[in-house]
Amino acid sequence: MDQTKQIFNIYIATQKDFSYAEEICNEMEESAKARGTGIAKRSPDYILSKMNEGKAVIATTTDGAWAGFCYIETWSHGEYVANSGLIVRPEFRKSGLAKMIKHKIFNLSKTQYPEAKIFGLTTGLAVMKINSELGYEPVTYSELTQDEAFWSGCKSCVNFDILMSKERKNCMCTAMLYDPKDHYEPEETKQFFDENSKGLERLFRIRQWKLLKPFLKNV
Ligand SMILES: CC(C)(COP(=O)(O)OP(=O)(O)OC[C@H]1O[C@@H](n2cnc3c(N)ncnc32)[C@H](O)[C@@H]1OP(=O)(O)O)[C@@H](O)C(=O)NCCC(=O)NCCS
Repeated sequence: MDQTKQIFNIYIATQKDFSYAEEICNEMEESAKARGTGIAKRSPDYILSKMNEGKAVIATTTDGAWAGFCYIETWSHGEYVANSGLIVRPEFRKSGLAKMIKHKIFNLSKTQYPEAKIFGLTTGLAVMKINSELGYEPVTYSELTQDEAFWSGCKSCVNFDILMSKERKNCMCTAMLYDPKDHYEPEETKQFFDENSKGLERLFRIRQWKLLKPFLKNV
């Protein structure tokens, strides 16, 4: 497919988009398997509820196929917001679509929850890069929501034992956060990422190796 000619519609999903839920859910699971990384599992019903509540952004092609998706979750009674479940259909990756979806959901989050801290957990450099461009900064897990319901979402992740062994203070994911009341400018966080991305990638790999080591001993 010629991605340069592909035009996407990126909008807040509604009931009209219900038919995409199952395919989106399947792709989330397949992509997690392909990466060999963990994921908090989502059901099609959960995706439908996000669309119904006006808390999801979807990208579609002009011929009506879904191309990407992301949704908003709230924790600690709205004190924290997570932009979760970001997924781009494999054939449309690396054309800037995730970045556009993330910008849209970030703005939607700020409109719906102007006071909330917006955060995300990710194992991917692409997402770290996009977040950095939005003004997110890397933080420790202690700065995230301590809402039990959020952390119980990690139970379906393959790395849940690691998270528990570290008493929820560390795991394979990098935590990033945007605090509307106290944040760097996007130019600054972007510059930090650009200047440190090589080191961050290496640090990321070392940290994952260190976290996995005790578990590999028993294999
Ligand atoms: C991660 C994902 C959403 C990225 O989607 P995408 O549409 O390819 O991302 P974009 O094209 O908007 O890329 C954003 C930036 O990240 C970079 N990037 C994309 N994929 C990358 C990768 N695998 N490794 C490193 N950088 C990457 C791009 O080059 C781009 O940088 P630029 O602004 O300098 O050009 C997509 O690969 C995906 O759906 N993966 C499976 C699900 C997943 O991992 N979701 C994230 C869960 S936290």
